[in-house]
Amino acid sequence: MKHNMRIARILATAAVLGLGLLVAAQATAKTVSAETIAERLKPSGELCLQGMDCGGVAAPVAAAGPKSGSEVYNSVCMACHDTGAAGSPKRGDVAAWESRLEQGMATLYEHSLNGIRGMPAKGGNPNLSDDEVKLAVDYIVEASR
Ligand code: HEC
Repeated sequence: MKHNMRIARILATAAVLGLGLLVAAQATAKTVSAETIAERLKPSGELCLQGMDCGGVAAPVAAAGPKSGSEVYNSVCMACHDTGAAGSPKRGDVAAWESRLEQGMATLYEHSLNGIRGMPAKGGNPNLSDDEVKLAVDYIVEASR
């Protein structure tokens, strides 16, 4: 009889412990999933809004950043420098660029920004920043050495 009581107490203790563990485990699982769900429910725009400092990774601000050299070239400069229109030196034409390159990059930048003879200032697009024009010059020159 006494023996049975002890077994019963042990079983009860084990049951309480087991239940406790179960509750604890469930509580943990619930916390994690609640956070995960909240995170998943957030619309992507809320996580990192345009223009916000999002941990060093800039939010994609479409077309607002400076254009790359190839972008500027392909939207503005190619009209003349792909075709040779108005006597413009073609991109990739090494012979045509040789004497121009001898002037040095500073002069090429200067002539691209302010224009020279048939070459309009900034290729005719005053909305381009100086840096964008220079990147486009680099893009042309890289292919024309
Ligand atoms: C409307 C036609 C036209 C467009 C558009 C144009 N160019 Fe030109 N570009 C010319 C012509 C013509 C010349 C040759 C000028 C000369 O030396 O008589 C030239 C010359 C140049 C030169 C050589 C300048 C020098 O000192 O020898 C560079 C560099 C240049 N262009 C860059 C650009 C860039 C960058 C763009 C785009 C942002 C651009 N061009 C857009 C017509 C154009």
